[in-house]
Amino acid sequence: MFRRLRSHNDGDRRENQHERSWKICNELVLRGDAAMATYLIRHSPRLSGEVEVSTAKNAVLPLLAAGLLTEDPLVIKEVPRITDVETLLGILRDCGAEVKRSGNDVSVCALQPQSPSHDEHMRKLRASILVLGPILTRSGSACVGLPGGCAIGQRPIDLHLKGLQAMGAQVHPIGGRRQLSGRLTGTRIYLDLPSVGATENLMMAAALADGLTTLENAAKEPEIVDLANCLNRMGACINGAGTGTVTIMGVDRLHGTIYKPIPDRVEAGTLLCAAAVTDGSVLVRGACPEHLRSLLFKLAETGVGLRETPAGIRVNGRAISPFEVRTLAYPGFPTDMQAPMTVVALGCHGSSILHETVFENRFMHVTELNRLGAQIRVEGGMAIVEGGAPLRGAMVRSTDLRAGAALMLAGLIASGETILNDPAGHIERGYQDLPEKLRALGADIEQTEDLLGL
Ligand code: UD1
Repeated sequence: MFRRLRSHNDGDRRENQHERSWKICNELVLRGDAAMATYLIRHSPRLSGEVEVSTAKNAVLPLLAAGLLTEDPLVIKEVPRITDVETLLGILRDCGAEVKRSGNDVSVCALQPQSPSHDEHMRKLRASILVLGPILTRSGSACVGLPGGCAIGQRPIDLHLKGLQAMGAQVHPIGGRRQLSGRLTGTRIYLDLPSVGATENLMMAAALADGLTTLENAAKEPEIVDLANCLNRMGACINGAGTGTVTIMGVDRLHGTIYKPIPDRVEAGTLLCAAAVTDGSVLVRGACPEHLRSLLFKLAETGVGLRETPAGIRVNGRAISPFEVRTLAYPGFPTDMQAPMTVVALGCHGSSILHETVFENRFMHVTELNRLGAQIRVEGGMAIVEGGAPLRGAMVRSTDLRAGAALMLAGLIASGETILNDPAGHIERGYQDLPEKLRALGADIEQTEDLLGL
């Protein structure tokens, strides 16, 4: 009788809590803007099953921009349905390209690319700056608004501009825009930092410049290699991508091709962390172990079981041992995995330390995780996590893309219900169907659309 009564009361309490959570979600939607997303996440069981990784956002964005380098159609296969891609496609149309989606494939055809006229689109997306190199090298001039994106640091574009200037471009500020003009000539460029975006922009600009360009201290990310592979298929002459020195011999013209980009290593890593925090057993299909080495070593150090199979990466069990990790350019530990890895640290008993060295403002998720009961303090560029503190559901807010994903994972292990408010739609900007994928593994996540029957 006591058991029944207690379980009945627990049921009532859960019902009331759910009612309250639902009301809060409802209010958030009613007073919110169109891009808003709110998720109701309940404490979830161990995730289990199989999940497929989408194509890499960070590979697809520069590849689509590369469509501006040729008058032929460039077809990119398996383009993820995320808002960052839609924003870039809008910018490419604004640049005069014809953009068509056919199923999961997107073709870009740019007979005569021109500068984008809508600065507000450029401000929505950091990767919008990737149209600069292609338009300039193809048409001899380009004028672009400054890019935006996640507010995780200052994110200047000085390295992009310095590199193009070294190749002979004249750079003039016009209001909030930058006007560049001149025929580009190959030269030797040293990047002060191995910037991913600058390496991509300069590689694309150099592909149609006169003579040989050498990029020193270039970024080595797999997405750079993917872009170089596609450009070479289009007729470019690029060597050394994936190393610190990339050489590009300019050619007169590039032609179209059909290209399938690499799988998303950050999405794969996020799903591996989701399994690891819930003591799960999950096969992350299509994940490429070679692209995830630093994360796999770190997860293994925490005690998570990992097995590489031809189909992908299988993860088993929970993270237990605390760890120390430092974000670095590839092949170092990716800054994009720092927030999900902070959630992994919450389940490890003892102090873990996460050093952020790539972006200066990338601990915004810490305040939100602490609202759930996490014990994390930030000291300069490092977050110190006292793992093992019990997490309780609360209302939290997504501050950037990877922070949003990390909060979703934290909601899975917090007791009760967590309301994740994502006013800028960060999660949908970069993850295709993340709540759906987690749900298919057993996670208890609802979206406001589901809750309100929209
Ligand atoms: C890319 C990724 C992003 C990832 C980041 C670092 C895409 C679309 N985005 O962003 O997910 O977090 O790499 O791995 O691929 N910097 C300058 N001046 C510049 C350019 C960069 O100082 O002109 C600095 C940045 O502020 C940052 C560091 O260099 O501190 C690395 O940035 P970068 O590699 O350029 O990142 P993104 O290409 O913007």
